[in-house]
Order: sequence, then C-alpha cells, then structure tokens
Amino acid sequence: MANDKFASMIGSQRPEPTNIVIFGASGDLTKRKLLPALAHMHRWNLLGHHSRIIGSVREKWTKSHWENYVHDQLLQYFPEAVMNPPSWRRIAEKLDLVNGDLSDPEMYKALAKTLHEYEGKTNALFYLAIPPSWYECVCKNLKDAGLADEKDGFRRIVVEKPFGMDLASAQDLNAKLQSYFDESQIYRIDHYLGKEAVQNLMVFRFANSVLEPLWNRNYIDHVQISVSESLGIGYRAGYYENSGAFRDMIQSHLMQVMALVAMEPPVSLHANDVRDEKMKVLRSMRKIEPEDVKDIAVRAQYAEGKVGDEAVPAYRDEKNVAEDSCTETFAAVKFYIDNWRWQGVPFVLRTGKRLPDRVSEICIRFKSPPQRLFQLDEDTVVNNELIFRLQPDEGMQLTMTAKQPGLSTELRGVKLDASYGMVGSGMPEAYETLLHDVMLGEAGLFSRADEVEESWAIVAPIMDAWEKETDIATYEAGTLDIPGMDALLDECEGSWRDLEVHDE
Ligand code: BG6
Repeated sequence: MANDKFASMIGSQRPEPTNIVIFGASGDLTKRKLLPALAHMHRWNLLGHHSRIIGSVREKWTKSHWENYVHDQLLQYFPEAVMNPPSWRRIAEKLDLVNGDLSDPEMYKALAKTLHEYEGKTNALFYLAIPPSWYECVCKNLKDAGLADEKDGFRRIVVEKPFGMDLASAQDLNAKLQSYFDESQIYRIDHYLGKEAVQNLMVFRFANSVLEPLWNRNYIDHVQISVSESLGIGYRAGYYENSGAFRDMIQSHLMQVMALVAMEPPVSLHANDVRDEKMKVLRSMRKIEPEDVKDIAVRAQYAEGKVGDEAVPAYRDEKNVAEDSCTETFAAVKFYIDNWRWQGVPFVLRTGKRLPDRVSEICIRFKSPPQRLFQLDEDTVVNNELIFRLQPDEGMQLTMTAKQPGLSTELRGVKLDASYGMVGSGMPEAYETLLHDVMLGEAGLFSRADEVEESWAIVAPIMDAWEKETDIATYEAGTLDIPGMDALLDECEGSWRDLEVHDE
C-alpha cells in the first residue's frame, strides 16, 4: 500500500533493470546524494530486481571493502537503509565494483565484461560524479570500449554542473560529449528541477485553469526567485573561487526555474516539447548591454559575522581563498523577457551564502487593485502573492487581504497555505526523482545543450563586467544587508521578500 502511494507520487512506472555505474564512487556526491537516493528507490521497489550499483574507484578496493564503505555512508546519510539486516542484504547484493584509473582503457574493458556477466539486456547509466575536466576522457574510453553503443540496452550518461564556465567552454564541452554520445543519451543534471515544488509549479500552472488568465503582464507586477543559504563555501574554495554565486546558482538553477515560470504551455510533456518552450523564453530575454550591468546586477561578498549563534569568518579568511579575492558570494540580477506575455515584468533573481537562513522560494507578486476602496495602514500589504516554497517546508501559499473580524473595517493579510507536509509524507529527494527519470529515459527535467549555451550567452556581459572589477562590496555574514540590492526593485511594487525563518 505504502509502496503504491509512493510510486504514484513519483510516477508509477518501474524502470527496466539498470546497471548504475558511478564514476567517482568514493566521492562526496556519491555518499551524500547518490547512495541515499538509490537506497531509497530500492526501498520502494523502484530500482528493479536485477539492477546493480557498480562503483568505479581509483583505490584498490575489494568488493567487500566497497560494501562496507556503502554501508558506512548509508549509516550516516540514510540510516533506515541499513537498520534492517535483510533489507541491507538486498542492497549489498546489488553492489559491484571496478577498480582503476579513469584514464586507463583496461578499466573500461573490465567494466564492459562486468556488464556482460548478466544475461539479457545490459542497460547502463553512467553517472559522472567527477570533476568536469574528466568528462571527455571518460566518455572517450566508454566509447572505445563499445559502451556508448545501444545495441543490447540503453546507454545514458549523467553529468553534473558546471557545464562550462562561459559560453565558449560550454560549447566546447557539449561538442566533446556529443562526439561520443548522442544528445539523447546525455542527461545534464540540474538538481533544482528535481525538487518537488519546482515540478509542482508546472502542474499548478498547466493542470489548473484559474491561473492562466492571470499569468501575464496584465496582472503580475514582478517575479522574485530567491535562494538563500546560511552555509558558507565549506571545503569547496577551489571550485567556488573560479565560479562565484552567479555562475554557481543563477546561470544554472535560478534561470532554469525562471524559464519554467515564464514558459508557454508545451504541446506535450515530452522532453523536447518542454525544452523548446524553455528555449523560447531564453531567446526572448532582453539583451544586456555592458553599460546596463551596473543597473541590473548586484554582487557582494560576505564579511565576518554571526549566522544564528555561530561566529563565522569572512569569505577572504576561508581556507584556500585568496586574501584579495573578488569572488561574489551573493548575486542578484533583474531580467526582462521581451515577449507578448511578459513585456515590462521584471524577473529578479538573487542568491547568496552566509545569509540568515536556508530559504528558497519563487514569489509571483501580483499588481495591487486599481482602486483603493479601503483605508489602509502604510504597512498593510495589498499585493497578492503566490509563493512556491522550495525549502524548507515545501509547499505553496497565496496571500490575500481579508477583513479583520470586528465592527470596524480593518484589513489584514491572510495566507492560504498548502504545505506539502499536509498533503503526504515520503517526499522524494531531488536526486531520487532525477535518477528515476534517467532510468525511464525521461529527459524533461534535464538541460539540453542549446539551453545551457543560450543561458551562458545571456549572462556573458555581466560576467565580463565583473571580471574587470578589482574590488567588491561586502555584507555582514548572517544578514541580508546587501549594498545596492533594494535598487533592483525600484520600479516594482513592494519590497524584497523577507527570507528569514520566523517561529509562527
Ligand atoms: C549546488 C551549488 O548546485 O547547489 C551549491 O553548487 C549550493 O553551492 C547547492 O549550495 C544548493 O542546493 P540546495 O538543494 O541545497 O538548495
């Protein structure tokens, strides 16, 4: 019963048995995201009896070492998976291992042999949980070993962002991947698209009729998309110093979410129909001129401060960060989509690290009523807002203005809240949804090459302008006091949403 309920939440189709090959099996992504996601799928019977999880590691591990490793990681990141010995045994039976260097063709021959040890189809999903600088080498070796060929089962590769660092490097990476695999075999993960609330945005928009008449420039004043994180950069200085908040979050996750908010209804839910609509949004975006960057984009870096009760260092004092680093840890931008539906409606996107709380949301702020019939206090909110909360506490909320009970006509804001917690439990994590989709061959939640390239082209003037700057504004860690952020909303109704979590 529980199985069916869960299966129906994420699509009741069960994937064909699949060899899930993880390159970078001893890495961080594998232990924190992939193994828990696979164990969860196994638990709900979505992995298929004959599926296997084949780790590829450089270390000379034995199979039992790999088993112990997986056990220990699950104990930390998804303990329920190993608590019940028979259930853990069933996961352990699926584990297999290939050892060797990623550049060694012998390892791929061993992998091909392992795949063919099983009878029947040898479907394979190759997860590249490794730095992008290795992608080409791995794809070439897979191809040379005959492992890109789909004659006895599907072959799909999954790659993580960053997909390049700018337009030229993204084009180069795409060309390399496409020289070994067909575009239909390439799944570029943007884990934001696997989040429940993001998927629900599509359902909400296209499975209900009440919103469509309002979903345009006539009723919507502006759209805010915010991802606020309280954590710093942790151990990732090597990557983050070259990336910064804009590349890390806005060019990828936030622009993808924006495209889903703004796109027209697709002809069908087939991957390319959805991606075509997202592409149209990106192609309609107003070109940014170099001289406009200062008016439409803001960046800043965290100085020391306090997040909750914890005193935290400045970004420049983090391990492996240059003491004169100008990398932004906060970025915000105002985009316009110059099409019939959205002409003149600002889409303002912002993200940052070491902000007060971990809160991500999409806010559709509607225009205020054209006539003011009621006397209002200065701070009474009159704009309806539709909020999609990505985290924490995923759900939707519509804010309305209502009458305060009593003899006078005092108004107050009320929230119509549909928290997913109220709808059901057992919500899948983004990585489960996405892995499940790859196994089913559903590519709608993955970025196509042209989308990635188009989004790099759109943001290039901003990155070019910032690269020339030799200084950067700062904000106190644990606050949202970002110099220049408010000015982005100058022509909008209302102010930025408060992203702090308040106890109700
Ligand atoms: C990743 C970024 O893609 O997304 C990280 O590289 C960021 O810097 C993370 O912390 C945020 O993801 P989530 O799901 O925790 O909001």
